[in-house]
Amino acid sequence: MASMTTRSDNPASSRFPVGRQAFPHRDLTGIGRLQRHEILFLLAEAQQWVEFNRQSAKHGDLLTGLTVINAFFENSTRTLLSFEIAGKRLGADVVNMHAAQSSVKKGETLIDTAITLNAMRADAIVIRHGSSGATQLIADQVDCPVLNAGDGQHEHPTQALLDALALREALVARGQSADDFTGLTITICGDILHSRVARSNLLCLQALGATVRLCAPPALMPTGIEAMGAEVHHDFDAALKGADVVMMLRLQTERMSGQFIPSPREYHHLYGLTKRRLGYASGDALVMHPGPMNRGVEIDSDVADMIDRSIITRQVEMGVAIRMACLEVLTRARRGVKGWS
Ligand code: NCD
Repeated sequence: MASMTTRSDNPASSRFPVGRQAFPHRDLTGIGRLQRHEILFLLAEAQQWVEFNRQSAKHGDLLTGLTVINAFFENSTRTLLSFEIAGKRLGADVVNMHAAQSSVKKGETLIDTAITLNAMRADAIVIRHGSSGATQLIADQVDCPVLNAGDGQHEHPTQALLDALALREALVARGQSADDFTGLTITICGDILHSRVARSNLLCLQALGATVRLCAPPALMPTGIEAMGAEVHHDFDAALKGADVVMMLRLQTERMSGQFIPSPREYHHLYGLTKRRLGYASGDALVMHPGPMNRGVEIDSDVADMIDRSIITRQVEMGVAIRMACLEVLTRARRGVKGWS
């Protein structure tokens, strides 16, 4: 059973700087702000919560007395639910604010909302917002840690961290050493232009040593993305050649103004992951998807549900552990954990 002490006694932490130096940030706004060792530190912390979550009794008390506000200005199923479960499993009081029921609909500015949340003395605020940079704007206005649960097309850091954790677990289960992802080729295919998941994953996977290929129709590929070190592809078959991991992304139609693809049917024909197409990747390539999936558009059901290749439900499982680690680490200073104030 995972002990309920602070996690700074984690043996894996011996590879990291000690105390606050291991993670010197107040907020988690993006992977772009993190050093490689800080990413590895969060993954090591999360590993213990994976084991904790697999027990039948999974209620901890590290965050007892603390209030976590999940302020979601955009729809969400798994991210909101897993942040809520994460906070509750750590013993925090968790409150969810949905934009549809909030004063945002009455015209309140984001800064006024931030000031209001701050006045309620939250101990951590988790934000999902449709505008890139919204999380930082709120972080600049409040006194507590702020965690980005997805801001516009910018970043979705906990998604990239949970993806890395799920991938690492799958590699370890196959007997591969997976301290980092050096030597691994990962193809990310879909609506790269509108995807904060693609951006955060590109940064995270590269920081961990992987080669990242991005694949999309030209209209759905951000211009100049090569400058971030990715290989850019428009031909999916070529992008798949020899890939160790294939990560599929949804068409983010809610962010599209105008016509970006001829039709979902044609899109599937060129960019849908079918069993036949998966054959171009390496023989045992893993399949990932952050959800929500549009089966029959970017991914076929017989690929999404492949028992030995798809780690899509593992990604969801790892989401809770990652969010527990992030909430626990980011509140250490407030909880007066030795070496963290
Ligand atoms: C992603 C998101 O919201 O950015 N979903 C998620 O958090 N699991 C991807 C998406 O909506 O397509």
